[in-house]
Amino acid sequence: MTTVAPDQVGTALRFPQGFRWGAATASYQIEGATQEDGRTPSIWDTFARTPGKVFEGHTGDVACDHYHRYRDDVAMMAELGIGTYRFSIAWPRIKPDGSGPVNGRGLDFYDRLVDELLAKGIAPMATLYHWDLPQVLEDRGGWTNRDTAYYLADLAAATVARLGDRVATWTTLNEPWCSAFLGYAAGVHAPGREDPTAAFEAVHHLLLGHGLSVQALRAGGAREVSLTLNLARVRPDDPADPHDLAAVHLIEGLHNRLWLDPVLRGAYPADMLALFRRFGADHAIRPGDDAIIAAPIDFLGVNYYQPARVRAALGVDGGPANPGTEGAEYVAQDLPVTAMDWPVDPSSFYELLIRLSTDYPGTPMMITENGAAYDDVLVEDRVADTDRVGFLAGHLRAVHQAMAEGADVRGYLAWSLLDNYEWGYGYGKRFGIVHVDYDTQRRTLKDSARWYAAVIGRNGLD
Ligand code: FCB
Repeated sequence: MTTVAPDQVGTALRFPQGFRWGAATASYQIEGATQEDGRTPSIWDTFARTPGKVFEGHTGDVACDHYHRYRDDVAMMAELGIGTYRFSIAWPRIKPDGSGPVNGRGLDFYDRLVDELLAKGIAPMATLYHWDLPQVLEDRGGWTNRDTAYYLADLAAATVARLGDRVATWTTLNEPWCSAFLGYAAGVHAPGREDPTAAFEAVHHLLLGHGLSVQALRAGGAREVSLTLNLARVRPDDPADPHDLAAVHLIEGLHNRLWLDPVLRGAYPADMLALFRRFGADHAIRPGDDAIIAAPIDFLGVNYYQPARVRAALGVDGGPANPGTEGAEYVAQDLPVTAMDWPVDPSSFYELLIRLSTDYPGTPMMITENGAAYDDVLVEDRVADTDRVGFLAGHLRAVHQAMAEGADVRGYLAWSLLDNYEWGYGYGKRFGIVHVDYDTQRRTLKDSARWYAAVIGRNGLD
């Protein structure tokens, strides 16, 4: 991959030649077929069935039925001109016991998917772990158990052995912040635990699993290996107040530095190490782990949705997903919001990309998710989702601006190809550029899909 300064003519933007355009999904969110071909339950199957955890008790049992409809879905991607498709591997399909024997039938699905993609000229990009840990492993402690990191590397080895001849680009983890802090501290994601010690143990074992998987993937011949993080752009309520700036530093620590520093600089930041100690999780960190975690990656995957704003205040903290943040408080932002109530401000994306390229120079990036949920309505075979078009256009302009100022961004993947199972929100939130009728499984291109196809076709915006 080479980086060329992007072109800008008037308001029309063009991205460098070779810029990768695509869309992303994740196994549990779209596949369905949760009991087919030897798959065992994941933590999300269990969590979804736990009363009160997911909107209206929705599960991924059927989801978009992509497991059976992947051919049509790939054909649709080809029509849109999508060049890269990021999907994830369902661990309990490949290793029904979590560790140990490989289930060939589970791998067969991804084999067929990859062949179908390649036949249509679409580059497959596989994420190893997008949150569907086998329940059997959670029963043994899940990410609080060091063994899980080694089992992830076993999954990596088995998967690259089968697909590595055709899949060039790999991602180890998707958003480990969510796995650790939403899953083990706030309890709003599977496995639904509310224990900050467990969350910090999970942080370390996820990162260790990442590093070990990088080794396994490279040993198996993977050409490009990456890690996808959901990185935060946190603004101070009062930029002139040093206490607010300290609150920003702390919150950004948990979201950004805790992950970026060990991977890209070789060690946890001192203030984050102090949090491991404070919550009694530092025992998880063993000599030699740092070097494993810092294995070089080929690019950093950046998922971005919304900015945050914090201030310093007594007697408050950043909430259960942000353990150890006493004195730092999230504050409301006066911005338009999506159907998730997530504030929209593309300039924050620009600021994040500049910040990343300044703080971690020499790290190529790929936008591995960006998108928005809106209350779409299907009227006579059409979804006029102008809000989503506005969101995507604004964020693409932000990426372009950051690139013009030196950020090394190699591609952009929209979240998501399809409306799908939005975790705790079930099917209640629609992020797709393609509408899915869950009763009939009928797919309808939204206006945003047609717009995105035009963007891809001209390699930019007019
Ligand atoms: C990200 C997840 C993805 C999807 C989007 C909306 O945090 O990686 O699966 O839920 O948010």
